[in-house]
Amino acid sequence: MAVLICGGAGYVGSHTSALLFEKNEELIIIDRMARERQNAVIGGKVYNGDLNNSEFLDKVFSENEIEAVIHLAASSLVGESMSCPLDYYNNNVVGTLRLLEAMNRYHVDKIIFSSTAAIYGNPKSVPIKESDGPSPTNPYGETKLAIERMLGWAEKAHGIKYVALRYFNVSGAHDSGEIGEDHSPETHLIPLMLQVALGQREKIVIFGDDYPTRDGSCIRDYVHVMDIAEAHYVALNKLRSDGPSGIYNIGNGEGFTVKEVIDTVSKVTGKPIPFEIGAKRAGDPAVLVASPILIRNELGWYPKRSTLLEMVESAWEWHRRHPQGFPKIDQGIQKEGNVT
Ligand code: UFG
Repeated sequence: MAVLICGGAGYVGSHTSALLFEKNEELIIIDRMARERQNAVIGGKVYNGDLNNSEFLDKVFSENEIEAVIHLAASSLVGESMSCPLDYYNNNVVGTLRLLEAMNRYHVDKIIFSSTAAIYGNPKSVPIKESDGPSPTNPYGETKLAIERMLGWAEKAHGIKYVALRYFNVSGAHDSGEIGEDHSPETHLIPLMLQVALGQREKIVIFGDDYPTRDGSCIRDYVHVMDIAEAHYVALNKLRSDGPSGIYNIGNGEGFTVKEVIDTVSKVTGKPIPFEIGAKRAGDPAVLVASPILIRNELGWYPKRSTLLEMVESAWEWHRRHPQGFPKIDQGIQKEGNVT
């Protein structure tokens, strides 16, 4: 039986797919794939389509024997969600609703869902525990919280077991240096800085320097994308062994300011990273740092590539080797796979 990975060509999706492929899992990948992302898929049978389309989902579920779903297909930019909230509800909430309906129709009863630290909003205490009340400060976090709650009700009514993984700030790249972070347009802090190091961008704008933090810039908990991929594998095996549903933070438990990230990127790349101070970005909480204890105690997962240095080094390896990101399909390199 196969594992269906929704959003399998995205940043976390491609790294999770790569790990599961290495573990000899049979993979079916759904992605509303930007052409350039087709080269992010390392293996598996690929369907190009949209979760909001129930007929498309019927085709995927009827053509394959699906054991479990890993769901990472979402719009995920905090800033964009502030200006296009309805798109976020449509892509994230409605897309997941259609997916759960399809799972119910085809009697698939296991899902691992990619949630986010953005559901916490401005935390009441740090590090943040899963039991701390959610209070999103942006529509992106609201949609992920709505989905977590939908999963709870779907379990009660339809017996669909779930693990929701609340990622903190994903960073780094696959150990091979062949897949990595490539968004278009890029908005994430570390890849933007690496573009500066590559001479593709002049400087970084720090979004606010009067937050109540040690140097005034925002603090985030950066976690390596391959550690996140492993968390999905561990969660999948938990559900396979009839473990209960659960919600877990995926972070390191340590936070870094934007200025500290600049210093690390400068050290790793050997290049200065010029910056200026700009306005705060709407929807940004000052501090997001995880308590990763619950998942360690219950699933035995802990981050293995936990230093910021390791994360930036692996991200730099990818960016250095692929300064233009993934090769485009019409540049002639296409992975094996049945793109439907
Ligand atoms: N930042 C800057 N300048 C930039 C870009 C970012 O100062 O040009 C700052 C942001 O204000 C933030 C930090 O760098 O404090 C990290 O910003 P990112 O845009 O890289 O990431 P976010 O923290 O906004 O969001 C990321 C994911 C979300 C997820 C969140 C969880 O994109 O999906 O982490 O912490 F919800």
